[in-house]
Amino acid sequence: MNTTAQPSSTIQPPFNQFSGTRKTAIITGASSGIGLETAKELLARGYRVVANSRHISAAGMLNPREDLVLVDGDIADRVTAQRLIAAAIEMFGSIDLLVNNAGIFIAKPFTEYITEDFERIARTNLQGFFHVSQLAVTQMRQQKSGHVINITASLATQPIAGVPASLTNLTKGGLQSVIQALAIEFSGEGIRFNAISPGVVKTPMHPEESYEALKHLSPLKRLAEAAEIVAAILYLESASFINGEILHVDGGAHAGRW
Ligand SMILES: NC(=O)c1ccc[n+]([C@@H]2O[C@H](COP(=O)([O-])OP(=O)(O)OC[C@H]3O[C@@H](n4cnc5c(N)ncnc54)[C@H](OP(=O)(O)O)[C@@H]3O)[C@@H](O)[C@H]2O)c1
Repeated sequence: MNTTAQPSSTIQPPFNQFSGTRKTAIITGASSGIGLETAKELLARGYRVVANSRHISAAGMLNPREDLVLVDGDIADRVTAQRLIAAAIEMFGSIDLLVNNAGIFIAKPFTEYITEDFERIARTNLQGFFHVSQLAVTQMRQQKSGHVINITASLATQPIAGVPASLTNLTKGGLQSVIQALAIEFSGEGIRFNAISPGVVKTPMHPEESYEALKHLSPLKRLAEAAEIVAAILYLESASFINGEILHVDGGAHAGRW
């Protein structure tokens, strides 16, 4: 008899005791970059996924499958959030993870921002968090379980001379602070709230020709891969005693000067 333990490539699907089914994740901004990698990896690990962006169907980056629902729509609009929540519950029976990933970046000196910049970034980064999170947490309270992860930005706590982007601080800083408020407000209800604060990540948010200059914004002297942000999401999912945490995934940029 061969008693050698064989490495298993089969990952057991995560399981929700409330619905009796596999776990369901909602991911916003999932047509590109970090959100797309998150959707692919969670599907590979057995999650059911409700994926959103304004043009996620047309983007064609996620192939149709029975455990995936695509919801087109601007996440700033409450009706989009309502459709995401309805899809998760009607199709899959629970909401176990919400990744608030949709976000935009507008770098400018403070005095050069125009009202339209403010309105665009506040809509996507803040309203895009508020509506879907409020509705998801309402469901998670019924389940007495759930996890909300906000994708913020290292710049929110580590502004860099020569990279003026104060509207990022205004919005992503708020997304970090609210994680701590909600971790306390819902303590004892089985719901965790965490944030991931990335440095510069190799995604379509930045043109490839800027990578060489951008790599100097990290002590590791390179950009992060989207998969390295996804690794932090998976870690937080598995780390059941971590709550109210801002996890920096920035190669050490938050630690000081380099
Ligand atoms: N890349 C970086 O260096 C970096 C650094 C720090 C933080 N982050 C944060 O990481 C998150 C993901 O960024 P990324 O680099 O992966 O960006 P990305 O490749 O540009 O992808 C952004 C995604 O958000 C969607 N989106 C934009 N506005 C939306 C809206 N109003 N409603 C719904 N979806 C919307 C986009 O799809 P549609 O166009 O189809 O809507 C796309 O799927 C963002 O919150 C960003 O601020 C990124």
